[in-house]
Amino acid sequence: MTQQHVVLVTGGMGGLGETISVKMVEAGYKVAVTYSPGNKTHAEWLAQMKERGYDILAVPCDVADYDSCGDAVAAVQAKLGAIDVLVNNAGITRDMTFKKMDKVNWDAVLRTNLDSLFNMSKQVVDSMAERGWGRVINVSSVNGSKGAFGQTNYSAAKAGVHGFTKALALEVAKKGVTVNTISPGYIGTKMVTAIPKEVLDSKILPHIPVGRLGKPEEVAGLIIYLASEEAAFVTGANIAINGGQHMQ
Ligand code: CAA
Repeated sequence: MTQQHVVLVTGGMGGLGETISVKMVEAGYKVAVTYSPGNKTHAEWLAQMKERGYDILAVPCDVADYDSCGDAVAAVQAKLGAIDVLVNNAGITRDMTFKKMDKVNWDAVLRTNLDSLFNMSKQVVDSMAERGWGRVINVSSVNGSKGAFGQTNYSAAKAGVHGFTKALALEVAKKGVTVNTISPGYIGTKMVTAIPKEVLDSKILPHIPVGRLGKPEEVAGLIIYLASEEAAFVTGANIAINGGQHMQ
């Protein structure tokens, strides 16, 4: 990195987000995270990070809300400068069979996991293109590629992520901006450990050839690669990181 790039990680205090943020600080980036406005523990989290030696900027943001994203990006830019790398990581699950799914739980997942890509990318991509360098990294899921029982909302949103990636990648390819999707499988975070144990043990783990859950550090390593200079020729890709659970 010739200059210290600024990265914004949405949902950067969450299971995967925290590891991504910490690893990006270690890799030499200036890191900002967004946290959900309802998060009552953000001050504690920041204090812990500081104690561990990680200087991270945190801004409240509802990624499902366009104006909230605008405010968050403006706050980051005012403190750290223009954003060079955007990691659209924030996501939620509202798992239930389609029979039980109501519109509220459909909308919540689509808005947070898919509309958020428009809401956040819109704030930063023009500036990246004008500066001739940028990285947008969208976190999808194995379940966007293969579908998952109980996740019509989540699978639809996560499949949409890669459509967005491909279209935007085409539009900014000549401007030095890459746009990629990563599709993690089952990673050992709160989102996965919240799955009923009998479902995890009987329906999920037996289908992971590597024989274990993934580690957040493994996903962070891929993101750091995609953010690097060396990854300039990788764009519009969907990179699976799922222990062999689903091969395309
Ligand atoms: N495949 C096939 N059948 C399944 C199943 C599966 N994966 N999961 C549940 N079922 C079956 C049960 O065996 C049961 O069948 P019977 O009625 O014949 O006994 C039936 O579905 C239960 O249906 P219910 O409507 O009563 O559902 P429930 O309230 O028990 O909960 C569920 C269903 C919400 C889908 C629950 O099983 C669940 O949470 N599953 C995990 C879903 C999942 O994998 N989520 C991923 C979260 S992690 C993530 O999203 C990160 C990422 O990107 C990978």
